[in-house]
Amino acid sequence: MSKTVKIHDLVFEPYIKNVTIQKRVKEIADALAKDFSDKKPIFLAILNGSFVFAADLARACNFDHEVSFIKLTSYEGTTSTGKVTTQIGLQEDLTDRDVIIVEDIIDTGTTIYTFLPTLKAYNPKSISVVSLLSKPSALKYPLTMNHIGFEIPNKFVVGYGLDYNGLGRNLKDIYQLKEVK
Ligand code: IMP
Ligand code: MG
Repeated sequence: MSKTVKIHDLVFEPYIKNVTIQKRVKEIADALAKDFSDKKPIFLAILNGSFVFAADLARACNFDHEVSFIKLTSYEGTTSTGKVTTQIGLQEDLTDRDVIIVEDIIDTGTTIYTFLPTLKAYNPKSISVVSLLSKPSALKYPLTMNHIGFEIPNKFVVGYGLDYNGLGRNLKDIYQLKEVK
């Protein structure tokens, strides 16, 4: 996989291969099994970006769990707006449930940090945060992250569910914005 891809006006280069992602997904699933295999947790995946990761993670977890989705958005183009909007809300009763938030990427942390008080108001038994990617140097809030797939530098990425203005989610691998030289 050495080919660049063009999405809208930007060029992206290969960054993390799907096989590498799958290996890490399995490791995270094994770690979750240790804590939750007898607890029937509910995976709460944050749309849109996490749908691919959530699907692979759910299938890698060989223990009873439910999967649900909420839709929160904070991004326009390649930058965070700092404002989080809820477009599809919670339908489940989370009282006394072990909730595992499943994110594609934690960038500034705004999305999760803003959502946590809403989630806590449902009185879940526990809240864990799992994200495939995290950009530690972009983080603006004190967040506890339980499982991170890959820590990456503060550069825009697409693929494996992540988009640039709506496109690129279908790429099997993760691609990174190519520097303009
Ligand atoms: P945060 O609220 O700044 O942590 O941003 C989280 C959300 O922004 C993620 O769930 C993604 O949907 C989106 N996002 C952040 N960084 C990237 C990126 O590099 N590529 C694509 N989407 C991103
Ligand atoms: Mg997202």
